[in-house]
Amino acid sequence: MTEAEFDFHSPLSRWDTHSAKWDLLAAPLGRKTLALSVADMEFRTAPAVIEAVETAAKLGSYGYTEVFDDFRQSAANWQHRRHGWTPDPHDCVFFPRIVQCVAALVHLIIPHRTGRPARVVTLTPAYHPFLEVCEYAGASIESVELLDTTSKARIDFEALESAMTRADLFLFTHPHNPSGRVWSQKELEKISAIARAHDILILSDDIHADFTRSNGVPYLPLARISPDLWQEGRILHCTSPSKTFTIAGLEASAIFARGQIIDELEKAKRQLGLHNPNYFAIPAAIAAWNYSDQWVDALQDRIDTNIRATRDLLATELPEAHVTDPEGTYLLWVDARPYAPTAAHLEQACRSSRVLVTPGQEFGTNFEGFFRINTAMPLDPLLQAVRHFSRALIRVRNGRIHASF
Ligand SMILES: Cc1ncc(COP(=O)(O)O)c(C=O)c1O
Repeated sequence: MTEAEFDFHSPLSRWDTHSAKWDLLAAPLGRKTLALSVADMEFRTAPAVIEAVETAAKLGSYGYTEVFDDFRQSAANWQHRRHGWTPDPHDCVFFPRIVQCVAALVHLIIPHRTGRPARVVTLTPAYHPFLEVCEYAGASIESVELLDTTSKARIDFEALESAMTRADLFLFTHPHNPSGRVWSQKELEKISAIARAHDILILSDDIHADFTRSNGVPYLPLARISPDLWQEGRILHCTSPSKTFTIAGLEASAIFARGQIIDELEKAKRQLGLHNPNYFAIPAAIAAWNYSDQWVDALQDRIDTNIRATRDLLATELPEAHVTDPEGTYLLWVDARPYAPTAAHLEQACRSSRVLVTPGQEFGTNFEGFFRINTAMPLDPLLQAVRHFSRALIRVRNGRIHASF
């Protein structure tokens, strides 16, 4: 089926649904706000997922549920079909959310193994909630800043290796949010070599793996590139239907790993009281992974079109900004410092245009004046929001709207 056969155009209002993106974060700017912020898509999910949730809802009785082999098998089959990697379904652990898996590692598993707080290395700009759970666990966090984040972001391997000599865990995102890089085989091999040399556990967060574009390198799971690290239990490969199918609120993720760490994850999950999945999580995830390939193919085309159109518009509206041409994800990362040297400028442009973007400093202290745009929404309102926001940025720069410092 092609994109035209699925609906990526109809407006979808999520106001008054207890939405974090709209009812909490966008509401202070007023009901006319357009949110290009949180990484939820503004499309309805795949037909098979809606049907599974409707069938489950119609039962009218929502007791405790459990994770059975069909979930693990569907998760493994998806990896095989979509990413050419064939994990054993028995090497799959359910977690509601990937962030809870990170929490299990830094609060429980690593301190239990080592007798001291976890030492974590990550690449910035970074998805912030992971770092927050590390901070709450008393873990030390060493951030290695990516180079050239708005062109083709690069890893400073010397700095990474130096940081890895002092670490237990490398929090790795592939494809990378917000730069949109899909790491190449060569880069994955270098990361593996460093991890091998310094005996590091790698959490590979591949939540955006289903969004790749034709302009870049193909997505390859790290576990497929480094089967030795995989076999030794030194890779936690985190997958989830939540971004691909816009079902983050249902909370289902599948963590693949080998050996002893599986038991450690299962135990930590119980210690954290995460005994059962949400009633809708398992049927939705299975329907997503088993019956929605064509919808995802069409979605990828739609995202590609949206990214191209948004980049073209930004090139016209904000010619001095630097904008990524992402290989993966549905996100654009923009260096807008010529227009918004401070966070206050950016915030003022959001308020004045009633368009919410994610400010760069949420991804690391050195990214004031950057912002992230989520392009996964119907094209017309997306372009309208980008146009309004860009023009507001220019008015702020020209002093026609004052940033309140
Ligand atoms: C890179 C990345 N990892 C993880 C998450 C969240 O995953 P979860 O809700 O399963 O914790 C997000 C959400 O935006 C993300 O962008």
